[in-house]
Amino acid sequence: MRDEYDDTIAGRKLSPESLMMSYGYRPEWSEGAIKSPIFQTSTFVFESAAEGKRFFALAEGSADAEPGEKLGLIYSRLNNPDLEILENRLTLWDGAERGLVFASGMAAITTAMLTFVRPGDVLLHTAPLYGGTDHFVHDVLPEFGVRTVEWEPDMSEADVDASLELALDGRRLAAVLMETPANPTNDLFSIAMARRIADRHGEAGYRVPVAVDNTFLGPLWQHPLEHGADVVIYSATKYIGGHSDLIAGAVLGSKALMGKVAGMRTVLGSMATPMNSWLMMRSLETLDLRMRRETASAERIAVHLAAHPKVAKVSYLGLLSEGDSGYDIYREQATGPGAMISFWIDGGEEEAFRFIDALSLIHLAVSLGSTETLVEHPATMTHTGVDPDEKKKLRVNGALVRLSIGVEDPDDLIHDISNALDAI
Ligand SMILES: Cc1ncc(COP(=O)(O)O)c(C=O)c1O
Repeated sequence: MRDEYDDTIAGRKLSPESLMMSYGYRPEWSEGAIKSPIFQTSTFVFESAAEGKRFFALAEGSADAEPGEKLGLIYSRLNNPDLEILENRLTLWDGAERGLVFASGMAAITTAMLTFVRPGDVLLHTAPLYGGTDHFVHDVLPEFGVRTVEWEPDMSEADVDASLELALDGRRLAAVLMETPANPTNDLFSIAMARRIADRHGEAGYRVPVAVDNTFLGPLWQHPLEHGADVVIYSATKYIGGHSDLIAGAVLGSKALMGKVAGMRTVLGSMATPMNSWLMMRSLETLDLRMRRETASAERIAVHLAAHPKVAKVSYLGLLSEGDSGYDIYREQATGPGAMISFWIDGGEEEAFRFIDALSLIHLAVSLGSTETLVEHPATMTHTGVDPDEKKKLRVNGALVRLSIGVEDPDDLIHDISNALDAI
């Protein structure tokens, strides 16, 4: 946990960028190795039966740790040095007390939600959501007796309250799940508003957790805990991993809440592997560099797209100006526009496909947040399973194209995009 390590030098608190190479690891633990080894092991040897008994008591919560006592290593489904060092480093970006890493973004989302919701409860969620999350919320949770309520872009606080009250009808509001910016449209939702709604509808003595999927902007450009959220969720496959070579997820928050999520993770076995955790530590060393470069290129590409006659509309946070829907939320919540651009081609699926197939430097593949620029067609790929009426309502139509900008030369990317637009 974060408070076990120092992040200051002579009173100066260091930035996460400075700590990504060292935080939470000491070379003397591993023969002086400057990098943590990959602890490719399923289990850990106890020094004595009494030690094993103590570790299990602490892990299960039947005993409290003495001052300065740490939970020892038990079994890699519960804990492992690579997972723990990575988790500690991740807390620095979001100012969280504790982090947990998972086998995938979906493992992170489902484990967190299964920690918070019970049959008969209500879950409030923003829409659109990533296709996999949408399926979990609309098709899986209702089968477990959870009622879900949708918060759509441009709904006022009173509108959300009204929808929620209809659904609650004596039930408990168990959690709020937000995706902001939303995949694939970049719609923004106010975390402060979610906090107010959660507080208004929470039962006495229960703080309704507000969980934010921060995959599109985090960990650099948005810090949900500062705006009233309790839980930050990532598909770490994206910017945190950043190289299209692993699948992983993360959940961050207070020690108390993460203790509960960790318990569910142990039961479900949804944790990340040591190898992938090690790869993510390596990726975190360049997170700031990658995300800044990708964002600077995205800003230029979005301007280029917005001026192009074959593009009907661009949704990019860096293009928002005063009076636009989402502008105030962007100014309030985000510190940068990120590198995800969604745009609607002038036409429909046929024109969008012609553009996509004419690209050559940019790869046609789902996923995002990687060093290489990726293009995809949400309506027929990542969001194909979303209800057709829902897609129509949320503008996830045939004309929509999603770009995730990578670290290539931005002029080369603009050239590739211009050529492909000419092919329509
Ligand atoms: C916003 C968002 N959340 C969650 C996920 C799921 O993550 P994973 O594919 O790592 O399970 C994705 C995947 O694209 C995503 O875009």
